[in-house]
Amino acid sequence: MADRIFSGVQPTGNLHLGNYLGAIRNWVGMQNQYECIFCVVDLHAITVPQKPDDLRQATREVTAAYIACGVDPKKSIIFPQSSVSAHSDLAWILGCHTPLGWLNRMTQFKEKTGKNRDNASLGLYGYPVLMAADILAYRATHVPVGEDQKQHLELARDIAGAFNRYYENDYFPLPEPLIQGPATRIMSLRDGTKKMSKSDESDYSRINLTDDAEAIDLKFRKAKSDMVEGISYDESARPEASNLINIFSALANVSREAVVNDYGARNFSDFKKALSALAIEQLSPITSLMRELLKDVSYIDAVLKDGAEKAGAIAAKNMKQIHEIVGFVQL
Ligand code: TRP
Repeated sequence: MADRIFSGVQPTGNLHLGNYLGAIRNWVGMQNQYECIFCVVDLHAITVPQKPDDLRQATREVTAAYIACGVDPKKSIIFPQSSVSAHSDLAWILGCHTPLGWLNRMTQFKEKTGKNRDNASLGLYGYPVLMAADILAYRATHVPVGEDQKQHLELARDIAGAFNRYYENDYFPLPEPLIQGPATRIMSLRDGTKKMSKSDESDYSRINLTDDAEAIDLKFRKAKSDMVEGISYDESARPEASNLINIFSALANVSREAVVNDYGARNFSDFKKALSALAIEQLSPITSLMRELLKDVSYIDAVLKDGAEKAGAIAAKNMKQIHEIVGFVQL
């Protein structure tokens, strides 16, 4: 089977530097190497409450961000998850092959729900099964994901294995994670031990892909630092400094060592100035292209429709085979 990439981002809240460096930027180079399918996972988004108009807007924003970051709709398939019914169809089938014990191990569910588990929805609990269905509906072989999604990908492999064993075939390839570089864990600018997140209540914790130069500069200037002299990398003792070094290294495409070599003897203020200039230089073309694209909703929707047709055709063919394997009567 040919190598095929599948990945996705949820249309919730603001896309930020972590989404860019940890995910979308890495996809751009993959387009020349693999067949790529990039999904806007709106079914995942509704595992927590979403306002309909916000969801629609965020779906278009993520699409614009993909394109502005360099994902080419002529090379790759870009589409919204809800437009291809195979995702929910297969999620049901795979759910019937997923023991509760496996789902109960998922740390993201436990962290998100805490003591309030009884109020969490079945959808939130089944989230990783839907993610497995996303990947397996296309029989994707490689999945670029951040560090935080590794456990879900492991589960997708386990579910694929369980299905293959039960039906005594090897229909599903076991999808391989592609985890890349120093940028896979971009942390909050306010707390170097917490992931940069769309849902953090402080906007100063993240650089949004919609931030202008002034906002980027202000946020780096205000970013938490420490009292140690110089700039050095030590994730446990200096989480904030280490995060800024990681961001610099990812943006400049140089090693951490090179960053420390250049800035080790400087103070935070100088380092942050250089970092913010670098971030502005890299992000402003993306930001302005995103703004342009979002002015033309009909273009965005046309990209999504074209992608939905292409993705739908691949998934429909696979779903027919899957229904046959499971024993559903084909009419
Ligand atoms: N759960 C992923 C995240 O929050 C998004 C996602 C949904 C995904 N389906 C996927 C990623 C399939 C990779 C493959 O980051």
